[in-house]
Amino acid sequence: MARIILLSSLLIPIFLQANAASSTPASAIAAQYSLTASTAIPFPTATMSNSDTQSFITSNWNLLRNKIENGASFVDFVADPFPNAPAPGSQNASGPVLQVTYPVGSFSAGNQGGTQMVSMFNSSSAQPFEAMLVTYEIAFDQGYQWVKGGKLPGLRGGPELDGCSGGNQANGTNCFSTRLMWRTSGQGEVYAYVPRTDDICPNSKRSLTESDGVICDDKDGISIDRGSFAFSPGQWQRISLVVRLNNPPNVANGQITLYNNDQQALTKNDVQIRTSDAVYTAGLYISTFFGGGDDSWAPNSTMHTYFRNFQVFAGTAPSNLTRSTARRASR
Ligand SMILES: *[C@@H]1O[C@H](CO)[C@@H](O)[C@H](O)[C@H]1NC(C)=O
Ligand SMILES: *[C@@H]1O[C@H](CO)[C@@H](O)[C@H](O)[C@H]1NC(C)=O
Ligand SMILES: *[C@@H]1O[C@H](CO)[C@@H](O)[C@H](O)[C@H]1NC(C)=O
Ligand SMILES: *[C@@H]1O[C@H](CO)[C@@H](O)[C@H](O)[C@H]1NC(C)=O
Ligand SMILES: *[C@@H]1O[C@H](CO)[C@@H](O)[C@H](O)[C@H]1NC(C)=O
Repeated sequence: MARIILLSSLLIPIFLQANAASSTPASAIAAQYSLTASTAIPFPTATMSNSDTQSFITSNWNLLRNKIENGASFVDFVADPFPNAPAPGSQNASGPVLQVTYPVGSFSAGNQGGTQMVSMFNSSSAQPFEAMLVTYEIAFDQGYQWVKGGKLPGLRGGPELDGCSGGNQANGTNCFSTRLMWRTSGQGEVYAYVPRTDDICPNSKRSLTESDGVICDDKDGISIDRGSFAFSPGQWQRISLVVRLNNPPNVANGQITLYNNDQQALTKNDVQIRTSDAVYTAGLYISTFFGGGDDSWAPNSTMHTYFRNFQVFAGTAPSNLTRSTARRASR
């Protein structure tokens, strides 16, 4: 008995310390990277019909071209379906949440299911942002069908604000996107459209390659650290995604880091996100659907995800990580 007490009194402080060290709220991440500008995406105080939801979002979310690009009929502000399962440490777990609907059989970005829009975060100053953090809480229906995978919100960069998704590649001067994806069994990853350099996709001419947790398996996005964290149905979890653009543009020191419930889940510090300083971080890219471009990705009954507490932090300082070798974009 005495030994057990001694052991637990030794272990508890060690666990507490480990937790304290690895739990990093979004505001602390923002401070670490000097992301001094921030905005909380407004939510209503009462649930809304679909048409009122569309008007609310269009009036309050500073959308690119003032419109929901796809799936305006699949978003609704609803009551929290999981009020007893908030994300750990959630400060703001009351009020309506955004429900996204994916009808049975839907797949791909379009008007079959899911939604797509860009919430621009640009300052009045002429200086573009070169680093951003988006944080949000997400929940999946109980019994969610993961099928083969689907897209989830992340960040997007310009100047070309429609490119770098759907098979349109990043070439270093046009754009980038870093969304999340769920995959089979709820595995999580960052799904990036960044230049397919020899560095990140060393064997890009082969159909399937894997190195350093990176999969460049086809002509689409690049899968980073698949399975480094997991999504679970029927409960809230908090995602925070940081992107710091590489600087100077010919050095592959761009940073992509993801926190799951305030714990770092993946980081990649050697990405050439751009080859030109024309590329900047533009804002929150809400892009979510099953797929994938064919019905092998589609759910066989209607599914929903839920979102709340979207916040974006931004700064004008790009990555200052050191990288001795300059790399070039291969295409
Ligand atoms: C890199 O940038 C961060 C955030 O702006 C800053 O805290 C840190 O001191 C910088 N490091 C170097 C080596 O300049
Ligand atoms: C800032 O966002 C608004 C969207 O409301 C857009 O019209 C404008 O072009 C953006 N500015 C820049 C510099 O991207
Ligand atoms: C629907 O898909 C699930 C797996 O996602 C499977 O277990 C189930 O059998 C399917 N139901 C029908 C009717 O095909
Ligand atoms: C990059 O792609 C854009 C289209 O997204 C195109 O207009 C531009 O010419 C391309 N630049 C290079 C260097 O290939
Ligand atoms: C907290 O919730 C309220 C009401 O839903 C919303 O207006 C506010 O923007 C939220 N705060 C953050 C940080 O998301």
